[in-house]
Order: sequence, then C-alpha cells, then structure tokens
Amino acid sequence: MKATALAHPNIALVKYWGKRDDALILPHQSSLSLTLSPLSVTTTVEFGAGADHVEINGHTAKGSERERVLRVLEAVRAEAGGGLGHARMVSRGDFPAAAGLASSAAGFAALAVAARAAAGLPADPKAASVLSRLGSGSACRSVQGGFCEWRRGERPDGTDSYAVQRFEAGHWPELRMVVAILNRDEKEVKSRDGMKHTVETSPYYEAWVRDAEAEVPRAVEIIQRRELEALGELAERNAWRMHATALAADPPLCYLHPGTLGLIEHLREQRKKGMPVWFTLDAGPNPVLLTDAAHEVAAEALARACGAQDVVRCVPGGDAALKSEHLF
Ligand code: DP6
Repeated sequence: MKATALAHPNIALVKYWGKRDDALILPHQSSLSLTLSPLSVTTTVEFGAGADHVEINGHTAKGSERERVLRVLEAVRAEAGGGLGHARMVSRGDFPAAAGLASSAAGFAALAVAARAAAGLPADPKAASVLSRLGSGSACRSVQGGFCEWRRGERPDGTDSYAVQRFEAGHWPELRMVVAILNRDEKEVKSRDGMKHTVETSPYYEAWVRDAEAEVPRAVEIIQRRELEALGELAERNAWRMHATALAADPPLCYLHPGTLGLIEHLREQRKKGMPVWFTLDAGPNPVLLTDAAHEVAAEALARACGAQDVVRCVPGGDAALKSEHLF
C-alpha cells in the first residue's frame, strides 16, 4: 500500500503547445523530449490513510495543485477497482531553490509510478505515462528516460496518447543540456493558460501543429545518427515557431525577456566562431543550451557572461524508478 518513485524532468526538442482536449490533456500534435539528470523529484504514496493529504516540498498543497494530484490518485483507485481508501502523498524535488525550472513533469511522473505500485498495479510504462498525463501533459514524457516521443493519438478517450521511448539515455551520452537561469520570477502566464490562449486566438496555430508534427520524425532520424548540429538547428527553429505562434495570439504572448534575446545573439556569434551550441526555450525567459560534453563548461561560461544567475548542467537521464526508501 506504500511506494516511492524518483523521476527526472524533461526538456522538449519539439514542443507540445496546445490541447485538443483540456480535461483529458490531449495535445494537438506530437512532441519529443530528452529526460534530464541529475535533477529529480521523489514521491511517496500510501493508500489507506484517514484523509487525502498532499504535501509538496514541505508545504500542504491547496487549490489546483492539490486537485491535479487527487485526480491522478482517483484514476489509480478506479483502475485498481476501488477499496484503496484515501491517500497520503509526499513529494520532494532536489531542484535548486527557485531554479526557474518546472518540476511538475518530474513530479507527476514520479507520482504515477509510485501510486500505481502502492495500489498493487503492475509496472507498465504506457499506463504510467497515460496516468501522469492527467496531471500535466509534459509529465508523460518523464516516465521513461532518454528520448521520448509523446504521440498525439487519435482516440477521444486519450488511451493512445502517451509517450514512448525512442532512444535510451545511453544512446547519446555526450549530449549536454545547460539550463541558463536568467530570471527566477514566476512567469505571468502559465503554460496551461498560454497554450489555451494561443489555440483560441493565434491565426498561426494550424501551421504550428502541422509543422511540429512533421518535425518529430525528422528529429528521431537526427538523434538516431547523433548529429548535434542538425538537432540544434531543429530545436531552435521549433522553439522559435512555438514562440512565434504565441506572439501572434491576441493579445500577444511574449515569454522572452531582453536578456533572453541577448543570450541568443551571443550564442549565434559563438557559433560563427565554431562553438557547437544551440538553444531551446520553453514558456519562460530561461534558455536551455544544447551542446556536447567537450563544450559544456564553455556553454556555462557563455550563459554566465550573458547574465545567468544560475546554471544547471544536465546529462541524458534514465527511467522513473521505484525506490526502497520512503519519504515518510
Ligand atoms: C512549453 O506540460 O506544463 O514546456 O499539460 O497544461 O500541464 P499542462 O502543460 P505543461 O506544458 C509544457 C509546455 C512546454 C513545452 C513542452 O514541454 O513540450
């Protein structure tokens, strides 16, 4: 009745931006990401408690944060056929304080794996991916390590919309992702609201969907061949296109800060001088630099020279996994 799991966050190289079903969290297009180590979230779930209790990073969760967790737990109870009672859930991330990185993807992936095990359900990456998706879309790509593709799926009930691992972490061990924290403030428009606003008001939205869907198989081929330059170029243009679609919303949605553009410009100059470094950018001002092991120190220096307050160097991460030590 009690289980603990650890999961890593992921960064999308082809982004997910927009839902065709807000309740089930079904995307308009497929996406592709890399799971990142060493950052992680550990979550313990125990069924049979007197009342539902949700604790995240030392605080009792309230409002929508709590609701999203309870929703995942409810789905586990339903799959297990009931009789599990209330749950106590405690989650802790080892993300540097206010790293500016969302821990929700890792959090919901760890929750799904731990809750299924605590309910006595068999280990099943596909089922855990579908389950974690109910908490946050990008979480379904953190159940497995390495490069994961979240397939759009066709069914209205979402049973065919989950992430599959395309390559494990060991496929490309020299790849590096360097997170440049330029600004730690909470963003004004959360991804969930920003993507909804984009779907509803951006005239470029359909083009975004078509383009992103077509980029996924290209990205897979590039990763297969381990071509850093081609992957960097693809990741950059996909990030630009996501942000361009959001910029075209009404009113416009701009996640870039002046410092973000400064860093991107500097990156281009360094590239002209021969440094293999590219960026991707989620719905916030902090770019993630894509490079290789031989250039990660230089990439960190570049980010700091452009005003990064913190830099987190990441390597390809592994699967979400059960742990024998519990948080309570
Ligand atoms: C820009 O997965 O956080 O990071 O499904 O509403 O919880 P919800 O959104 P979330 O959105 C992630 C958006 C993104 C791109 C990506 O990770 O693919």
